[in-house]
Amino acid sequence: MKILIIGGNGTIGKRVEEALAQRHEIIVAGRNSDTVRVDIQDEKSITEMFESVGKINACICTAGTGHYGPFYQMMQQHMMPGVMGKLMGQINLVLIGKEYLEPEGSFTLTSGIAAVHPARNGACVAMINGAINSFVLAAAQELRDDMRINVVSPGLVEDSRERYEHLFPGYNLVPMKKVVNAYILSVEGAVNGEILKVYS
Ligand SMILES: NC(=O)c1ccc[n+]([C@@H]2O[C@H](COP(=O)([O-])OP(=O)(O)OC[C@H]3O[C@@H](n4cnc5c(N)ncnc54)[C@H](OP(=O)(O)O)[C@@H]3O)[C@@H](O)[C@H]2O)c1
Repeated sequence: MKILIIGGNGTIGKRVEEALAQRHEIIVAGRNSDTVRVDIQDEKSITEMFESVGKINACICTAGTGHYGPFYQMMQQHMMPGVMGKLMGQINLVLIGKEYLEPEGSFTLTSGIAAVHPARNGACVAMINGAINSFVLAAAQELRDDMRINVVSPGLVEDSRERYEHLFPGYNLVPMKKVVNAYILSVEGAVNGEILKVYS
């Protein structure tokens, strides 16, 4: 398969790339990627990426993040970067990318445990992750040509312990291997419209 991974240089993305590269053609895209540059906050940039890559069999997105901060100080301005990046960016990858996906191709988006177990200061991220999950449930019903779509919802990944553990006190660390397997299941399996939760 020809597989495009947006965010494929990130903590999760690079491990997904390593696993799938053993048997597929992988193209990594990101804001600073050596191969294909894209900013998923920008619809034009997404269209240009798909035009340069051409038809693909699978599109994985492991890019994006959201604001963490005190609820009583949280304003729209704090939320919008994540809304336009992780949320609308991934939605636009599907809305635009479905024209570049081969029949029987798949989309795999990324949300996160905060959708159902939000941490303190995590209202923005919880909202974004929940919205991505809901979008995937709906899109799976309407995609044509046997295209599939799933979302991987990781818990706090062991490789991100130093970076994120202070934001998620008491959360169990999730083995990266299990998270990578969820992406493999989505791309190589037959599942469709699933929220693939990896929380332990
Ligand atoms: N790590 C965890 O424990 C964990 C847990 C739950 C959910 N998640 C979710 O899983 C996803 C991946 O997490 P991660 O820890 O692997 O993140 P990461 O290490 O920060 O990697 C994200 C990647 O996406 C790229 N990127 C970011 N914004 C982009 C944009 N606007 N356009 C294009 N590329 C962009 C980044 O590269 P450039 O900056 O070079 O573009 C980077 O390669 C995120 O959605 C995160 O919220 C992670």
